Amino acid sequence: MQLQTTINGKPIQAEVPAETLLIDLLRDDLDLTGTKRSCDMQICGSCTVLLDGQPVSSCSLLAYETQDRQVLTIEGVSLNGSLHPVQTAFLQEYGLQCGFCTPGMVLTTLSLLAENPNPDEETIRAHIGSNLCRCTGYYPIVNAVKKSVQLTNNTPGD
Ligand code: FES
Ligand code: FES
Repeated sequence: MQLQTTINGKPIQAEVPAETLLIDLLRDDLDLTGTKRSCDMQICGSCTVLLDGQPVSSCSLLAYETQDRQVLTIEGVSLNGSLHPVQTAFLQEYGLQCGFCTPGMVLTTLSLLAENPNPDEETIRAHIGSNLCRCTGYYPIVNAVKKSVQLTNNTPGD
């Protein structure tokens, strides 16, 4: 089928089989390999991208379901070549180790801050509960999300 979608602000037209998963379109056809595949069962959150601003598992979404919609992957998060404040926060708070889960964590954080610019810790933990990390542990990740709140709101101090 003929797919028209927008990925990281760029209009995309492609002929794709109807059964093509979004993650395969991203990784295999568009070389956007920042989106990670792990469980393939909508459990781990590694493959998270934003669809019209909402987090979705690209391993469980058909590419054609993005027809005429907006997809954001980790490659589209930086701002004019500079790290997004959320990415900076993950670096500053050591919210990553191997980095495999990080694209999904960053995108999930972006979706949280878009709907709630000042989430409390309980809200943060509930929101990132959809994303699993196998190595860093969740304290630095929660701290990274808290730092994201500060940096995004441009407020000084800890
Ligand atoms: S690879 Fe998609 S949720 Fe785990
Ligand atoms: S940093 Fe390795 S899986 Fe999260």
